[in-house]
Amino acid sequence: MSDRLTVEEQLERTEKEVDDLRRALDQSSIVALTDSAGKITYVNDKFCEISKYSREELIGQNHRIINSGHHSKAFFVDLWETIASGKIWKGEVKNKAKDGTYYWVFTTIVPFLTSKGRPFKYVAIRTDITDQKTSQEQIEAQRAALIHSEKMASVGELAAGIAHELGNPLATVRGRMEFLKMQVRAGNAPPETVLQTADTVEQLCDRMASIIRGMKALSRDGGNDPFQKTQLGDLLNDVLGFTTESFQKHGIKVHLGAIDGRLAVWCQETQISQVFVNLINNAKDAIKPLDERWIRIDVADRGTDVEITITDSGKGIPKELREKIMQPFFTTKPMGKGSGLGLSVSTAIVENHGGELTIDERSPNTCFVVRLPKDQRQSS
Ligand SMILES: Nc1ncnc2c1ncn2[C@@H]1O[C@H](COP(=O)(O)OP(=O)(O)OP(=O)(O)O)[C@@H](O)[C@H]1O
Ligand SMILES: [Mg+2]
Repeated sequence: MSDRLTVEEQLERTEKEVDDLRRALDQSSIVALTDSAGKITYVNDKFCEISKYSREELIGQNHRIINSGHHSKAFFVDLWETIASGKIWKGEVKNKAKDGTYYWVFTTIVPFLTSKGRPFKYVAIRTDITDQKTSQEQIEAQRAALIHSEKMASVGELAAGIAHELGNPLATVRGRMEFLKMQVRAGNAPPETVLQTADTVEQLCDRMASIIRGMKALSRDGGNDPFQKTQLGDLLNDVLGFTTESFQKHGIKVHLGAIDGRLAVWCQETQISQVFVNLINNAKDAIKPLDERWIRIDVADRGTDVEITITDSGKGIPKELREKIMQPFFTTKPMGKGSGLGLSVSTAIVENHGGELTIDERSPNTCFVVRLPKDQRQSS
């Protein structure tokens, strides 16, 4: 059919088609044309409307006129490198209107190329995405605020816990002293009564001191001791040395797996010992009432890390408790028996060493895993 059209008719048709396309584009999008140097040669009404500049103010200018300062220099370097090499660039851009307000546009820049493939003109087609962006920014701000308030809430919770944990023994100490004074005034203070009270007060002070030590470790301020290369076998034997007596008393069998004598970790020895003392004591407390009572400690070389597992004859930590027991002051032990700080302090210490304290959920028995880098200086 086109055979029958004259060249003139064909040209007219093409021009009309181009015109129609341009009108459609002008209706739907913010359009600008620039020359190869980036100078604006054409803007449509939508461009003027959103930027609040008149056509006269824009023509002959550079797009810098609407730069919001939001994007980095690298962002625009990438944009220019892309289009100057003849490729299409797409992205979200924040611009600044004449009256100082900001707007966001989704931008597509298409280079028009010469027959040699060099851009001689760029067409930028934009759509207004300000509403979308603002609600997204609002959601992000809300989320940040929420995270902040959650953090504050957990600090508050912690503070409330500390106040409670220290408040109780403190009140008892005060009561005991009050009682002692009364007895002395009444002339009824035999040495045994005084000593007994002193013992109780001493124990309570120790307990408060241990809470304070725990808090220091939690605040990541606890370990000022130097890091030293420490043989794991020695460390674990020492830890078990403190506790053997009470194991025998409760009929608990403790098995320490074979350890390569050369296996060492770079650590703060007293801090890491504290971790194992707590894990072993936890195991002991948990299995005391069971018929089958054993604790097994194994050490495995994992290349750059060492993995120490403390397994006991218990049947694992129920799923709903796994997260809870790691939190400060969570304890299932009777008043005065546990402060609930052991696991959170241990986690803080292990993490300070660049390691990890986890519960092995796949083990049929209760199993805590301490993973420590052999040389923390490399991992941090
Ligand atoms: N091996 C285990 N088996 C079963 N439950 C455990 C084991 N280890 C810890 N738990 C549970 O986790 C809770 C929290 O342990 P964590 O060491 O943090 O505090 P705690 O032992 O109660 O007190 P603290 O260590 O401060 O004296 C324990 O009260 C216990 O319920
Ligand atoms: Mg404990």
